[in-house]
Amino acid sequence: MDLLAAVHGCTFDDFLLAPQLSVVDRRDPATIDLSARLTTHLTLKRPIVSANMDTVTRAEMAIVMAEEGGIGIIDRGFRPGDIEPQVREVQKVKRTQHGVIPDPLTVAPDQPLSDAQLLMQRSRVGTLVVVDADWKLLGILTERDLQFVGDQTRPVSERMTPMAALVTHRGPAGFDEAVRLMTEYKIKKLPLVDDEGRLTGLMTARDIRRQQRLPFATRDGQGRLRVGAAIGARGDYLERAAELVKAGVDVLVIDIAHGHSMVMERALSEVTKRFPQMDVIAGNVATAEGATFLADRGAGAVKIGIGPGGGCTTRLTTSFGVPQLQAVVDCAHAVGSRVPIIADGGIRRHGAIAMALVCGADTVMLGSAFAGTTEAPGDIVHKSVVVPESQKAVKVPFKVLRGMASIGAIKDRLDVEDASAIDLQAIGAEGMEVSVPLRGSARPVFQEMIRHLCSSISYGGGASLADVRRRVTTEPGRYLIRLTESSRRESYER
Ligand code: XMP
Repeated sequence: MDLLAAVHGCTFDDFLLAPQLSVVDRRDPATIDLSARLTTHLTLKRPIVSANMDTVTRAEMAIVMAEEGGIGIIDRGFRPGDIEPQVREVQKVKRTQHGVIPDPLTVAPDQPLSDAQLLMQRSRVGTLVVVDADWKLLGILTERDLQFVGDQTRPVSERMTPMAALVTHRGPAGFDEAVRLMTEYKIKKLPLVDDEGRLTGLMTARDIRRQQRLPFATRDGQGRLRVGAAIGARGDYLERAAELVKAGVDVLVIDIAHGHSMVMERALSEVTKRFPQMDVIAGNVATAEGATFLADRGAGAVKIGIGPGGGCTTRLTTSFGVPQLQAVVDCAHAVGSRVPIIADGGIRRHGAIAMALVCGADTVMLGSAFAGTTEAPGDIVHKSVVVPESQKAVKVPFKVLRGMASIGAIKDRLDVEDASAIDLQAIGAEGMEVSVPLRGSARPVFQEMIRHLCSSISYGGGASLADVRRRVTTEPGRYLIRLTESSRRESYER
């Protein structure tokens, strides 16, 4: 069977996958390798990305994604010129957890204790590192050292734990080394110094405990959670990119409705030229030509999907698009060995995640699947819903999921004055709003997706996600079962 021909005109629900001899224990997700390339340089332990939509991913969602092993992309649905709010979301994610705090709060030894007290109160940080003007480490001052001190004009040096009583580490400390020192000396803070004794960072037991609790988390070299951000391809996109890079963003996403375009070519070339160290995801496209176009122009990953999304009306309004499974297979076949593929949109059941991933996608991007969760941005609205059994109306809490090309989302990105001055209908919306009932945190949703994906690996007869993908793409005839209308109903309609 030729995979490209088999999936032509088809999407996820047009197939089942034939079960194979299982070689893994699906009840133990920790032992099943689901790692995948997000971009040419970044790998995720869990292949799930939350969509850059203003009703899906802001800092809270991105933190859950990264802690669980995926990544979130902060949307650019802020008003033009208003770069700061998006930067703040990125900073929030980068500041939640550290492996090493590279710039711990410091005081000088001759500062009065009242200064230290004020700094602790303002920053809500309970430990200050005491350094001299050359940044030489002299001691540590904690909240406890300030307890019951009457005369706050006394210098910090009188109350700090001095160097002679401190455990420090020379050079960069690995995670295991830090745990060893903290256990042996029963300490909670480990200052790091260079050969001259100058402060280079601080490791804390709290951050290390968090890291141990989250073994799959997506982290950068400093142990901070990773996060992406979308920038668009027009207007302030270069300035936005510069600010996001400064804030420590890990990946930029140039995301426009039709990525196989001259606008994208210019934007991709500018962004890759100005930020050569940065991984840039580009999209969306849905054909082999579109994917090759982006891969040839330096994209670090290609985002696939024209119109499959839950909030999309592109296909209804334009008649253009490609069924999502066909798009994924065509694009993966064209560039997948060179540049990773992100299957974006149209995942309406957990099994479709596995279908996209084993047929060629490296990762999946999800919007609606995370809508209505606690971490999804947006106000809660209560709507009356009639309970069928009692025929009584009850108030149910909802959150709104809206397409980024819906009138509402476009309007919010414009200045209020602009919005009234232009004919919004003339823009040609390609998205809509959907109300989604509240359903608790995105974390258990993510974890359930992972459990289901592990079950798929078990049914697929492979040892890892990459293994099952290799088997399905090299021997599609062993796996893919094209469904009839009735077998599709039997499989996917409940
Ligand atoms: P799901 O199905 O996971 O899809 O909700 C998320 C993806 O949908 C895309 N998206 C849109 N597509 N008009 C569109 O044609 C829109 O207004 C729109 N908003 C989001 C986007 O690729 C997202 O990741």
